[in-house]
Amino acid sequence: MTGFGPRRLAHVNLFVSDLERSTAFYTEVCGLDVVFEEPGISAVFLSNGTSHHDLALMEVTPGERVGRDGHVQVSRGRGRRAGLNHLGWEMASEAALVEAIHDVRGQGVKLHRTVDHQISRSAYVFDPDEVYLEFYCDAAEDWRVTYANNTGQLITGSWDPDAAPADASARYAESPTITVVEDAALRPVRTARASLIVSDLDAAVAFYTGVGGLSVLRRGEAGAVLGGSLGLPDLTLLVGTNPGLDHFGLELRDAVELAEGLARVRAAGVPVLHEESSPYKQSLVLVDPDGIRVEFLVPGEGALVTPGPESPFAI
Ligand SMILES: [Fe+2]
Repeated sequence: MTGFGPRRLAHVNLFVSDLERSTAFYTEVCGLDVVFEEPGISAVFLSNGTSHHDLALMEVTPGERVGRDGHVQVSRGRGRRAGLNHLGWEMASEAALVEAIHDVRGQGVKLHRTVDHQISRSAYVFDPDEVYLEFYCDAAEDWRVTYANNTGQLITGSWDPDAAPADASARYAESPTITVVEDAALRPVRTARASLIVSDLDAAVAFYTGVGGLSVLRRGEAGAVLGGSLGLPDLTLLVGTNPGLDHFGLELRDAVELAEGLARVRAAGVPVLHEESSPYKQSLVLVDPDGIRVEFLVPGEGALVTPGPESPFAI
């Protein structure tokens, strides 16, 4: 295997300018449930049960954010503005993660840090446009118990991947119990996708295949779609002049959920930026309090199309 080769994109971690305001938006409108809070680093974790978090929010900071035992989670200079902190990719097991760490180090790739989050263990790396990526394996028997045992505390410290033999068991949830936020406008099931603007498509595709270990599902002149080992379209790359996150996508159960959600969004007076309807998918796009675009989508039966900057929500 070359590179990390994750199963899928599993979470998005955002820097937000006002943690309370964004938490209200992502719970009350977007329907994600707060499952853990880490006040020491001004962070909130949200999930509907698919994983220990499908979304994390961390308030912007002019300085460092330091976790357990002095572990620097956000180094000085990062996290000063709202936007993407990182994309979180789910590995099959700790053994797969440790093997991949050795592979990418062998390729000469410098990892930014390796971390024990207790719920997971992680390696972090920057892509060619300095987009920050996390490749993690679940580490807890039950993340709810780990969270309960750490209420209000810092949860993250350093991790030496070679300190002990790696655990080969798969700890991700095969068929999670999905929860619903009562009274929320939308009812997402999981984080499904992210779209990045990249400065150099060839360089980005080379990185995401060689280091990321993703497969190319579609490739055009100005864009590409890549996926993890589950074969889903996790990541869209679009050529542009302002690299970074374009938008991310949360999946809904079905078209009825989408239609009912759209009605509740409109009734709540929340502006809808865009609606997409094609054989490939149906979706609506909202804008969060910091201007980050969030898509709520239901996949259709139609074939995957080739993306381009003129239609960022086509995938
Ligand atoms: Fe993360």
